[in-house]
Amino acid sequence: MILYSVVILGASGYGGGELLRWLSTHPAVGSIRGTARALAGKPFWAAHPNLNGIVDGCFEADIDWSEFKQVEQPIVFSALPHGELAQRLPELEAAWEQAGIHQRLLLVDLSGDFRLKDAQVFASAYGGAHPCPEHLARFVYGLPEWNRAALGGARRVASPGCFATALQLTLLPLRGLDIGWMAVTAATGSSGSGASPSAGTHHPLRAGDFRAYKVLNHQHLPEVRACMAAVGIKGELAFVPQSAPMVRGIFASLQFPLPAGMDLAGLQARAKEVFRDAPLVRLVADSPRVGAVAGSAFADLSVAARDGSGVVLCAIDNLGKGMAAQAVQNMNLALGLEETLGLRIPGRYPG
Ligand SMILES: NC(=O)c1ccc[n+]([C@@H]2O[C@H](COP(=O)([O-])OP(=O)(O)OC[C@H]3O[C@@H](n4cnc5c(N)ncnc54)[C@H](OP(=O)(O)O)[C@@H]3O)[C@@H](O)[C@H]2O)c1
Repeated sequence: MILYSVVILGASGYGGGELLRWLSTHPAVGSIRGTARALAGKPFWAAHPNLNGIVDGCFEADIDWSEFKQVEQPIVFSALPHGELAQRLPELEAAWEQAGIHQRLLLVDLSGDFRLKDAQVFASAYGGAHPCPEHLARFVYGLPEWNRAALGGARRVASPGCFATALQLTLLPLRGLDIGWMAVTAATGSSGSGASPSAGTHHPLRAGDFRAYKVLNHQHLPEVRACMAAVGIKGELAFVPQSAPMVRGIFASLQFPLPAGMDLAGLQARAKEVFRDAPLVRLVADSPRVGAVAGSAFADLSVAARDGSGVVLCAIDNLGKGMAAQAVQNMNLALGLEETLGLRIPGRYPG
């Protein structure tokens, strides 16, 4: 087996730390380098104390891509803040081309920068023009549960984030149906806002609180709608994101009128069928639990139906299946490795 060389851009953040955690025990990864500005020269464990004694290496301010000329299959994960990779990509592509690695290099982006195909939809979702719209079409959307076939051999992957992943997983059992109107709420933990402290992540403000935000107006809805269109789900989707007093996790709850002729058994059969070949989705009875998936790459799902109403519930770790673990799943698929290689690790329970 080839041992791959990996670079993580933005390795000192929460996503970077999770990538280091997953990739350091991945059997196909031989070396990992990571960039960060503030901690350049410091060991990885300076930002990620859980990796002390586990992952060697120091943050680097920048990478000299000519050092990768001889590398058979370079892999780059970008865990930079929103908008940052889109600003830097033209320069990076030029450097990769100069080093002769641009065609074989696999880039997996964890941000929302390249998830939408349409530059106008991007501008209205994110409130500004895309810096390099000519690159949008090159990225394959990385939700394996509906796009697995397109990921094989891909070299530019836009890996969806936590809300988008949880919402799409709840919707997939409804593929091919005209539902009319659906409502989804999803509660996120504080690590969803990244490592830099803000009012949205400050412990005293969150620990005893629960609130909604960006009601009906979350920037990741357009990518969810794109998935709905691709899998033939018709209907309006009303999304209320919520901020929950937990560190890790997304808990999504989709509610919809049951289509004529569908009962609980029918909905269960649809969920079973749509996730039959999805090794990281577990169908559970009653409610999925954030505590059972935290720290893992799994998404737990359950369905309910009664008196004309249908429900699909989903719990993921926002930093796991909602971010870094899914990016590694996409790497595995793009390289033709087993989809769950390095990812079949249980969460902690209790969390
Ligand atoms: N947190 C989540 O649950 C989650 C889930 C899914 C997707 N995402 C997406 O994944 C990406 C990374 O998220 P994260 O939570 O890991 O972010 P984060 O904790 O804020 O980390 C950002 C990383 O990028 C570096 N960086 C480079 N240029 C920067 C700049 N101009 N401003 C700020 N930081 C810069 C930071 O280190 P230096 O500043 O020292 O260089 C740091 O290493 C984001 O695009 C986010 O939207 C996040």
